[in-house]
Amino acid sequence: MVSDINRIFESFDENNIFKDKSILQTNHQPKEILYREKQINQIASILAPVLRGERTSNLFLYGKTGTGKTLSIQFVRDELLKRVKKENDFKLKIEYLNCKLKKVSDTEYRILAEIIKKLGGKIPSTGLPTQAVYNHFINIIDSEKQLLVLILDEIDQTIKKISNDFLYNLTRLNSELSKTQICIVGISNNLTFLDELDPRVRSSLSEEEIVFPPYNALQLQEILNKRAQDVFKEEVLQEGVIAKCAAFAAREHGDARRALDLLRIAGELAERGSSKEITLKHIDMANDKIEKDKILDVIKSEPKQFQFVLYSIIQLSEKQTSEAIFTGDVYNFYQDLCIKNKLEILTQRRVSDIIQEFDMLGIINVRVISKGRGGRMREIKLAITKNILEKAKVIIQNSLNYN
Ligand SMILES: Nc1ncnc2c1ncn2[C@@H]1O[C@H](COP(=O)(O)OP(=O)(O)OP(=O)(O)O)[C@@H](O)[C@H]1O
Ligand SMILES: [Mg+2]
Repeated sequence: MVSDINRIFESFDENNIFKDKSILQTNHQPKEILYREKQINQIASILAPVLRGERTSNLFLYGKTGTGKTLSIQFVRDELLKRVKKENDFKLKIEYLNCKLKKVSDTEYRILAEIIKKLGGKIPSTGLPTQAVYNHFINIIDSEKQLLVLILDEIDQTIKKISNDFLYNLTRLNSELSKTQICIVGISNNLTFLDELDPRVRSSLSEEEIVFPPYNALQLQEILNKRAQDVFKEEVLQEGVIAKCAAFAAREHGDARRALDLLRIAGELAERGSSKEITLKHIDMANDKIEKDKILDVIKSEPKQFQFVLYSIIQLSEKQTSEAIFTGDVYNFYQDLCIKNKLEILTQRRVSDIIQEFDMLGIINVRVISKGRGGRMREIKLAITKNILEKAKVIIQNSLNYN
């Protein structure tokens, strides 16, 4: 036992792979931002008037995940703040808030409280009526002449849990302020988010829009090459490793985060296997691991009703190895499960929707089969590997306390 542990620690001690792994961590600020000059310059020219104390148009940045939106806005923010003149007769505040953070995303109250806190104010964490919080917010920002640029990252999260009112109120605020002006920079990777909004809010939020296109494989390769320079020890990367990471990530809609994660995890796997280099095989392994974690994360975060439906599909699949499963079978099994566990039973229609969502997430495959006379059936097959399936089962069983 002790000798095993010694061996493990010793092999880590003579770490052959990493020089500085932290450079591959997502929160690392790279020295250079490649392939985003156009977007960065556009943001800069739209926001530049704030340096003179003038309100600018609201700005909306969108593009798929990992396309450099957060990185670019934070870069421009830092550059703007560097250029603030002391002799100005106004204050410039640029506040960044990620709306996905747990502590802010659930209520209008919390998100406002968080913004107030960032502006140096304070309100009790619960208890005030929403209108009072708004008044407080207005008092704080309107207490002196200032310009507030409010960056709301992952802004789509605000309408997921909070009502549309929040964004409506926010876009109307300028009319209630006398000394201060607000510009809003909204950011989202949900490309249909704007369509879901009240048209007045939509047009206000997207007075200016900037698109962040996905990176292609060559661009990802360059980004990785630059980043990898100080990460690894000499001659650790097998020929083609970076290209393979880039190719995988390009397939995942050009996601730079995915590319960086692949390289980091491949390095960790190589290290754990006491390998002296990262090989193409490590990239495959890293990719499998990311896919697996992604699916398990989804399953873990789904509400019980979803888990019940998935559990029904799993149980039925294991019972009937050859025969296909149909929506009706799943619904029957699901009903029994609900009764046994004293959980409210959802309608068949709702369960069909859930099944469709699992299909979209790649957890199952659904095939629609015509049955003559316009009748249709949906045939369901699990689309996850045995290994993931076992883990998924454990997650669901734990959460359901079902034996
Ligand atoms: N052009 C680039 N050069 C160097 N690194 C980059 C570049 N673009 C993105 N990255 C890195 O990729 C990761 C993801 O980028 P970022 O967080 O900006 O994506 P995002 O568009 O905000 O994604 P999401 O919508 O998921 O929030 C970060 O670690 C970032 O440093
Ligand atoms: Mg982001």
